[in-house]
Amino acid sequence: MFEYEAPADLLKDRIILITGAGSGIGRATALAYAQSGATVILLGREVKKLEAVYDEIESAGYPEPAITPVDLESAGEPQYQELVNGINNEFGRLDGLLNNAGYMGPLMPYQTITLDQWQKILQTNLSASFALSKFCFPLLQAAENASVIFSTSTAGRKAFAYSSAYTVAKHGVEALVQVLFLELENTSNIRVNSVNPGPCATALRRAAYPAEDPATLPQPEQLVPVYLYLMGDDSLKENGKQFSAQE
Ligand SMILES: NC(=O)c1ccc[n+]([C@@H]2O[C@H](COP(=O)([O-])OP(=O)(O)OC[C@H]3O[C@@H](n4cnc5c(N)ncnc54)[C@H](OP(=O)(O)O)[C@@H]3O)[C@@H](O)[C@H]2O)c1
Repeated sequence: MFEYEAPADLLKDRIILITGAGSGIGRATALAYAQSGATVILLGREVKKLEAVYDEIESAGYPEPAITPVDLESAGEPQYQELVNGINNEFGRLDGLLNNAGYMGPLMPYQTITLDQWQKILQTNLSASFALSKFCFPLLQAAENASVIFSTSTAGRKAFAYSSAYTVAKHGVEALVQVLFLELENTSNIRVNSVNPGPCATALRRAAYPAEDPATLPQPEQLVPVYLYLMGDDSLKENGKQFSAQE
């Protein structure tokens, strides 16, 4: 596992947008960011899941979070602009963006995947991460230092059979990180890095590997240290790099 012990106030007064915050790795990371002092903006599709995370954060006495339900599969420019306007009106900046929402679907040969399934996987994992990074740029620029993290996958770093759309999407996310790094490295306060969480007991993993015993996998909470490290000031020099939560 990636080893990092965060100071108690690592993210004090930071404003951080987290996608896929209602479950799995996004939920665990949102709770850890809030515990470290951040005001977290929880983005996901299912309001009930976001509300449950909101309640957990509030009852723990961490800074009051915000909820922003968005369906990343269907969102277009007006929805992204509305989201950014809302954050701008309330907070005026973003210190961090964790592009973490993802959808994998079941494993299947490329001959049987429908174009709709292909589009859904590309849209949710790749195009939405691009769109959020693009639309949030002015908010990130307004921060003193901003960190953008992308949850990728082992499938973003090598090819997997029966996972064509997900492999292509996550390779695309790794490529996007490199492009943003090249465009931003000498001109801005924004650093970009990717994290491969590795296999982890979440709904996404269960849907792809239904026969696997989740008890054999790490829990989302165990993967949080690398996400804390990359969001806080101890990682100010990390830019354009690939990290792994389980190495
Ligand atoms: N678990 C693993 O083994 C593993 C391994 C490698 C990489 N990853 C990556 O880790 C990230 C987090 O996944 P997870 O494992 O934590 O799975 P998860 O618990 O299923 O979480 C996925 C999250 O993405 C959100 N999401 C999916 N489609 C969405 C949409 N159309 N609009 C808005 N939000 C959407 C879901 O929100 P709703 O529930 O509200 O729809 C959910 O909170 C993903 O990028 C995944 O590819 C996971």
